[in-house]
Amino acid sequence: MTPVRFPTAVVGAVLLLATHTGAQRAGIQPSEYQARRAALATAIGADAVFIAFSTDPARRTGDVDWPFRQEDNLLYLTGVNEPDTTLIILPGERERREVIVARDRDPSNERWTGVIPAAEQVAAASGVREVISPRRFPGFVDALFQGRGWDAPPQSSYFAAPGMPAFLASVRAGRAEVWLVMHDRGATGGAPTREQRFAEDLRRQYPDVRFRDAAPLLLAMREIKSAAELTLIQRAIDITADAQKAAMARVLTASHEYEVQATIEFTFRNLGACCWAFPSIVAAGRNTTTLHYEANNEAIVRDGLVLTDVGAEVDGYSADVTRTYPAAGTFSPEQRAIYEIALAAQNGSLPLMRAGHRHLEVNDKAIDIVGGELLKLGLVTKNTSEQAGLYLFHGTGHPLGLQVHDVYDRARPYQAGMVFTNEPGIYVRKDDILGSEIFRQLPAADQASMRAAVLRYDGIGVRIEDDVLITAGEPQILSAGAPRTVKEIEAWMASTRQPPR
Ligand code: GLY
Ligand code: MN
Ligand code: MN
Repeated sequence: MTPVRFPTAVVGAVLLLATHTGAQRAGIQPSEYQARRAALATAIGADAVFIAFSTDPARRTGDVDWPFRQEDNLLYLTGVNEPDTTLIILPGERERREVIVARDRDPSNERWTGVIPAAEQVAAASGVREVISPRRFPGFVDALFQGRGWDAPPQSSYFAAPGMPAFLASVRAGRAEVWLVMHDRGATGGAPTREQRFAEDLRRQYPDVRFRDAAPLLLAMREIKSAAELTLIQRAIDITADAQKAAMARVLTASHEYEVQATIEFTFRNLGACCWAFPSIVAAGRNTTTLHYEANNEAIVRDGLVLTDVGAEVDGYSADVTRTYPAAGTFSPEQRAIYEIALAAQNGSLPLMRAGHRHLEVNDKAIDIVGGELLKLGLVTKNTSEQAGLYLFHGTGHPLGLQVHDVYDRARPYQAGMVFTNEPGIYVRKDDILGSEIFRQLPAADQASMRAAVLRYDGIGVRIEDDVLITAGEPQILSAGAPRTVKEIEAWMASTRQPPR
């Protein structure tokens, strides 16, 4: 089969490949994917070949797979959310600078699992003009390194001119570099990744070729969000804010956490999000003090708080918004006191979320505010980060994008176009706090006063999480659509109550 090449006119058409995400909507244009690939090509240089593989479908159990989700970098460079996809970029070539390997149409398979996009659709969505079958990928790699012809018919390929002459010249001059996205093995449970297996095979055959990791280059590109990416992130956040509002209404009559979860996830799908970006956390009562509580099976504690940390995903982009609210619609004095600390930490650290500042400064500011406020309630005996850390034991934010905890260069200060969460929390866990070495080393009188305060607020967990766009000026809170202050939350919940009949 010859490779399918498409004229620029076809490539220019906007056609979103979203067969696995369902909804068809205007998203990122092919020209933007082309520009991203061009930037990567410039960065890796003329002696390079860049190869990115798709995620392998993940098995859930038996013959049931998890829904397919494309590898982030491949999605970022192509928009193609299909398994068995590979992108190849050859910056030094004049003719064949980009190739996508994509599944062949297969009617007998398609009647089971749905339409496989035609090569024309893959080309139109991604802006890559040459689309080849996975069956031809091994031959393509041979052609790259051995200089065989590529488009020529089989009987003359031995004599044909090299398909990728510039890269071949780099191979022969000993300058060739193979750029792969070298993933953390954590994602594969320690087993070699697809990229590692590919590199090992290639190294055996071509020991002189150098391998480079493209992950840092892609990370630097992905940190700054484009206007089109911000539109998708905002859509995911708006859907999530609506889900939070629906959850606040639902909890008033729900008996179990899972009913609130159902309302949240119904809202995601009902408003067109493909899915959640991470498993929903719907915690009632004491469960609010467990950071990543995902069981969502317990009874709603009527005089307790409910914490929902949830995020919709839209075209691969995540939201991540947490709200904490009283199951009965009104905060008790103790719940309110703890809530106001988290809110003060957020309000006090938000102004630092602007270009030039570092994420660590925001974190430190939030912890300092939390420590100062906990001192007023007697929950710490001194405002130190160690004592505050008994109640706030996670970082107060992270970048957001194609992953909920998106890629990020910790050495880099904030730049305009980055999106970060701001998520201070206070978790009063009596046994952990009173059993800690920090508590045990306090003088007896301090222990007595602190113990009394801990018992008063025990079991209260509050997190407030908003998604923030960094600009050169004021930070923009993208998740402001979800009620955030005590007054806003109580007013919203009261407004949703059914009038008495
Ligand atoms: N939802 C996970 C987090 O807030 O980081
Ligand atoms: Mn978060
Ligand atoms: Mn979250």
